[in-house]
Amino acid sequence: MIYFDNAATSWPKPPGVIEAMVYFMQKVGANPGRSGHRLSVEAGRIVYEAREALAELFHIEDPLRIAFGYNVTEGLNLALRGILRPGDHVITSSMEHNSVMRPLRALEREGVELTVVACSPQGFLDPADVEAAVRPHTVMVVLNHGSNVVGSLLPVAEAGRICRQHGLLLLVDAAQTAGAYPIDVEADGIDLLGFTGHKALCGPMGTGGLYIGPRVDLERFEPLIRGGTGSRSEMEEQPDFLPDLCESGTANTVGLAGLGAGVRFLLEQGVENIRCHEQALTAQLIEGLKAIPSTGSGQAPSTGPSAGSGRGSGRRPGVTVYGGHDAARQTATVSFNVAGLEPSEVGLRLDEEYGILCRVGLHCAPSAHKTIGTFPTGTVRFGLGYFNTKEEVEAAVQAVREIAG
Ligand SMILES: Cc1ncc(COP(=O)(O)O)c(C=O)c1O
Repeated sequence: MIYFDNAATSWPKPPGVIEAMVYFMQKVGANPGRSGHRLSVEAGRIVYEAREALAELFHIEDPLRIAFGYNVTEGLNLALRGILRPGDHVITSSMEHNSVMRPLRALEREGVELTVVACSPQGFLDPADVEAAVRPHTVMVVLNHGSNVVGSLLPVAEAGRICRQHGLLLLVDAAQTAGAYPIDVEADGIDLLGFTGHKALCGPMGTGGLYIGPRVDLERFEPLIRGGTGSRSEMEEQPDFLPDLCESGTANTVGLAGLGAGVRFLLEQGVENIRCHEQALTAQLIEGLKAIPSTGSGQAPSTGPSAGSGRGSGRRPGVTVYGGHDAARQTATVSFNVAGLEPSEVGLRLDEEYGILCRVGLHCAPSAHKTIGTFPTGTVRFGLGYFNTKEEVEAAVQAVREIAG
């Protein structure tokens, strides 16, 4: 079996992740930050160590500025709902996941003004277009760091500079890059960073959160929910300090034990080394898929501004690879279509005949597919990860070649 669905959830996990979770369940088990006994203190230590590991990974000065939640969707909703008010203007890109688009569309109905800046058909964003969209009442720019459809990297550092110049906040959806690509909230000018534990951070599902930087006004910030925090129990009002302001109710502590171990694994390996391995596999995959010969007969299942080679030649390529065709400018996620076949058909054959597991369709990002011209059919998506090998990429290219006929 070849697992190429790491863009959805990474698998397998480093052994230390499972060991940390089993250790927590067998030896600790208590509620962190609630009681004063030794097991509760130990649980609190495990949660704090996960915070510290993430702070080191993202170059966050104060680990207490990380609010844990169940996934990046919750973190992004927290940031958007926490800050935006009717009358505010927010800018985003056309490559966003529905975890950004849906809360923004709901906020739009409540009186927040939204500008969606168009990306190129290869999935890239020109930072000048972001700057051109700034208005007097703009409050925030929200960007997907790495597209979950074509892997294109969006210019967060340039957007960070624009935001600083105009006094705006920058919220980054790092679902696809956290753990796979270097992130430095200081150097990149990121005020809010949403991350999810179960992808490249190597943790389990049910973990994620939001970094809330010092430029965010906590007095105006609205948490998504309020409740018990184990702190300031004499008060009936929510604590006004981080992370308690945004962390109500008992945490997924066993999950955070695993997430902490996952991030420590990444720190040991070095994100630069992980990136280097994944970039080499991505280049091999893109080249391999592009080299599959044209059949000359089939039609790609999609219409629109396809980025595939052979465009305008009159003969459809056997395989259309989307995105910029440059591994240095993208994550290890590659989308393609086989001429004449629906993505779902290709995915089924890859699974049943070749044991290759991937994702097909729209990947919860309809706007991104409209941008690259593959809406509504979508694409076949190979999401490579740190544990994949060049032999697996070679086998997958061969499988697609056979399917393409
Ligand atoms: C870019 C992007 N944003 C947000 C999400 C949502 O992640 P989660 O389901 O972990 O909240 C994903 C997951 O596929 C994603 O790729």
